Amino acid sequence: MRATGISNGKIILMGEHSVVYGEPAIAIPFLATAIETTIETTNGPVTLDCFFYKGPLSTAPERLLNLVTVIVETVKKLNKPLENFDITITSTIPAERGMGSSAAVAVATIRALFHYFDESLSNSVLLQLTNISETIAHNNPSGLDAAMTSGQSPLYYIKGQDFQFFPLRVTAYLVVADTGITSQTKEAVENIAELYQSAPRETDLAIKKLGLLANQAKWAIEQDQPIELGTFMTQAHEQLDSLGISNQELNHLVHTALDSGAIGAKLTGGGRGGCMIALAKNEDNAIQLSKALLQAGANHTWIYNMRKDE
Ligand code: MEV
Repeated sequence: MRATGISNGKIILMGEHSVVYGEPAIAIPFLATAIETTIETTNGPVTLDCFFYKGPLSTAPERLLNLVTVIVETVKKLNKPLENFDITITSTIPAERGMGSSAAVAVATIRALFHYFDESLSNSVLLQLTNISETIAHNNPSGLDAAMTSGQSPLYYIKGQDFQFFPLRVTAYLVVADTGITSQTKEAVENIAELYQSAPRETDLAIKKLGLLANQAKWAIEQDQPIELGTFMTQAHEQLDSLGISNQELNHLVHTALDSGAIGAKLTGGGRGGCMIALAKNEDNAIQLSKALLQAGANHTWIYNMRKDE
């Protein structure tokens, strides 16, 4: 017997980190990148085959604790024995680059296991199980990555509230660039938690400012004002940088994009490595930006038409 489950990457347009503290975020499922988990019947202990490891599930390395835990918890929820199947995970989402790979691996694997055991899976159970994995990955997840990697529509998202689908009707292109450096989401999330202890007033101000910028970006999208959107994105990058979430490579790509005609640029996702995004006013400009970013050291770029869902 054989069953599969899929998920996709995600791009946070605005609101990473501040979303953990109840501020709004805008995010996009990034269907250009995806994960597929396959479950196949065998005899004996469960095995895992993925980018980081191939072997018995019981001896998987510590860095896969979130995935191993989600597999164990899902099988428990399904009331099935943890034996007699192999798990294979293939991915085009670069791992640990702020594109939601940890949530996406969990989503695809939970879906595959429910499919394999022929049980229906509600969205709320999927999100609950995914958040077990995300809590191990970075302690205090907002739930945004779980929502985006399992969904197909852009969202205006506030932690704990119903999902608000948010069509991105803005005449612009996003260029996504990968620094090639693994992102340290856990450390970055912990860093902000520590700043809340050591400098509560300043940290709270920066988080609130990020929330305000996300709302201003929402307005700019609704009014089809790409220049304003770009300005709010760049301002968000400055706030994130002031909170210690950026790094030299991300700043270098953000400056390269702005110097090469981007109307806005910022890091996206957990930060401290991973990806950045730049806003281009048209496709030619996006292609030009993509070339400049590759020349400046990005190891991969993607171009996303923000009107493509119309
Ligand atoms: C990570 O992709 C996004 C963060 O805002 C964490 C979270 O929302 O759980 C940094």
